[in-house]
Amino acid sequence: FSRKIIGARYYIKGYEAYYGPLNRTLDYLSPRDMDGHGTHTSSTVGGRRVNSVSALGGFASGTASGGAPLARLAIYKVCWAIPGQGKEGGNTCFEEDMLAAIDDAIADGVDVLSISIGTRVPVGYDEDGIAIGALHAIKKNIVVACSAGNSGPAPSTLSNPAPWIITIGASSVDRKFSAPVVLGNGVKIMGQTVTPYKLEKKLYPLVYAAQVTNSDVPNNISGQCLPGSLSPEKAKGKIVLCLRGNGTRVGKGMEVKRAGGIGFILGNSKANGDELAADAHLLPATAVNYGDALKILNYIESAKAPKAHIERAKTVLGAQPAPFMAAFSSRGPNTISPDILKPDITAPGLNILAAWSEASSPTKMAEDHRVVKYNILSGTSMSCPHVAAASALLKAIHPSWSSAAIRSALITSAGLNNNEHNLITDASGNSADPFQFGSGHFRPTKAADPGLVYDASYKDYLLFLCSSGSKSLDSSFKCPKNSPSPVNLNYPSLAIPKLNGSVSAIRTVTNVGGSNSVYFVSVKPPPGISVKVSPPILFFNRAGQKKSFTITVKLDNGITADSIEKDKYAFGWYTWSDGIHNVRSPMAVSVA
Ligand SMILES: *[C@@H]1O[C@H](CO)[C@@H](O)[C@H](O)[C@H]1NC(C)=O
Ligand SMILES: *[C@@H]1O[C@H](CO)[C@@H](O)[C@H](O)[C@H]1NC(C)=O
Ligand SMILES: *[C@@H]1O[C@H](CO)[C@@H](O)[C@H](O)[C@H]1NC(C)=O
Ligand SMILES: *[C@@H]1O[C@H](CO)[C@@H](O)[C@H](O)[C@H]1NC(C)=O
Repeated sequence: FSRKIIGARYYIKGYEAYYGPLNRTLDYLSPRDMDGHGTHTSSTVGGRRVNSVSALGGFASGTASGGAPLARLAIYKVCWAIPGQGKEGGNTCFEEDMLAAIDDAIADGVDVLSISIGTRVPVGYDEDGIAIGALHAIKKNIVVACSAGNSGPAPSTLSNPAPWIITIGASSVDRKFSAPVVLGNGVKIMGQTVTPYKLEKKLYPLVYAAQVTNSDVPNNISGQCLPGSLSPEKAKGKIVLCLRGNGTRVGKGMEVKRAGGIGFILGNSKANGDELAADAHLLPATAVNYGDALKILNYIESAKAPKAHIERAKTVLGAQPAPFMAAFSSRGPNTISPDILKPDITAPGLNILAAWSEASSPTKMAEDHRVVKYNILSGTSMSCPHVAAASALLKAIHPSWSSAAIRSALITSAGLNNNEHNLITDASGNSADPFQFGSGHFRPTKAADPGLVYDASYKDYLLFLCSSGSKSLDSSFKCPKNSPSPVNLNYPSLAIPKLNGSVSAIRTVTNVGGSNSVYFVSVKPPPGISVKVSPPILFFNRAGQKKSFTITVKLDNGITADSIEKDKYAFGWYTWSDGIHNVRSPMAVSVA
């Protein structure tokens, strides 16, 4: 008998209207989880502390806990297996089912919605069931946390762009699952995996997949180990290097196994950079970054008889640098509302341990018969529940705060540095920017005492929709003749697309700290841009007091729009500080 899960519903009308009746071998016609994703995300929000947990035969061992371990959970299942694809082919979630679920959750009285769902490409709010449902939730002051999506590293890929949502990117933690490759020439190459299988301690013949494919596999995909592509005669007993792209990571390992390969090295393609997703492969395996994949390829080409060994994987703590942004984390600029900087924030989403459904296997592949209580997964699906949990804790500490105030506290208190005291980087080691991490990595403890918050009401969002040219999402609301400019939505960050001349934005901060405080502004303007904040000092003599200021943004004297690359964004910051609290906002500006 569990008092952890206090409600569970399912929504399938939209799915069945499209696909017909659910195939009961693919999923349960009930809220029960046959996939694992919902178990993973909900335990990350609210799972209670469990001692002596590990995944897949000993990885990441320790005490596991959800972010808000005393929270109660209500489950709303809206995603279902796609017919004709294996479970690993993913799920689909229909807008009407999601909207129905959110409306029921609101009626049930939830405090926070954690929605690890997004669209592959950005869609307008009037077609976006999550955006519409989230706006209904905001009316009742429910915090809505959503994933930014896994369509990075390309720009303009983020989903859940609405300003009434907290949009969350994904970054690494300081834990690795180290499984080096040792080449025949003695060179050792770092790799990662959570496969429990290991090789006998000796060198094995090493080949690149393209050398052991069937003869009819086209060159352009011959290194990718797609199903059926490898020749068992050529691959048997060897360690096979496959490259990422076209097909799942685990599926490539399955193909090596099918062809009788003894070990599997998964090499990143260029777009994946240095980010290594630790997978639970079904044979001895490891994953290496792009540069190392090239090194191994080079060795295979130059050695007479290339050989390698993959060392047994082990958990390593204290990895540096951490956090860095996951390459898959979807990025701004915000194509639906260019005046709103998104994502808002980043949180752990790379190689995260959480609970798993025993009705699914850790890889979800039909060939995988393992049953596990915990699994390690990557995605903005994993980072979203971290921030949802932090929001639940903030709501418990500050029951009177609006959902905008909670989001503001999280955004303005986020951290920018990694554990090497440098700016957070992307997966290839280059400095990351606010279109990847928003205001930075979340710091829930600091968010509990943010000093100032940027508040906003339901009506403010409707006014924003009026002036930003979006369709109305509330037919009972009539847009006034002169709605405030969308840049004036009281958001804790600032985005100015296509600057031509100067733009002024008004912001209002509410003092949620001590009764007597003085805040000074400091600005780090985007290169080539001048930023003036007026007034530069704000005096507060009571809690709850509001003060407004204006930010004026224009091109630097002597700089013309021509000298800055068109449509390329430059980033800066403005920070209010009273000596104790640093209330920091990112800004992004592009020129016309
Ligand atoms: C249901 O799914 C299973 C597994 O994919 C498949 O074998 C079966 O043919 C499907 N049944 C129907 C009625 O489509
Ligand atoms: C590879 O080439 C074939 C034909 O040569 C083409 O049909 C296919 O789309 C190509 N695949 C990729 C991934 O470029
Ligand atoms: C394979 O990947 C390439 C890029 O890596 C992409 O352009 C192509 O569409 C993919 N092909 C398939 C069949 O998924
Ligand atoms: C910038 O503003 C000026 C003056 O209003 C106008 O003539 C010009 O066309 C604008 N440029 C762009 C690229 O919008």
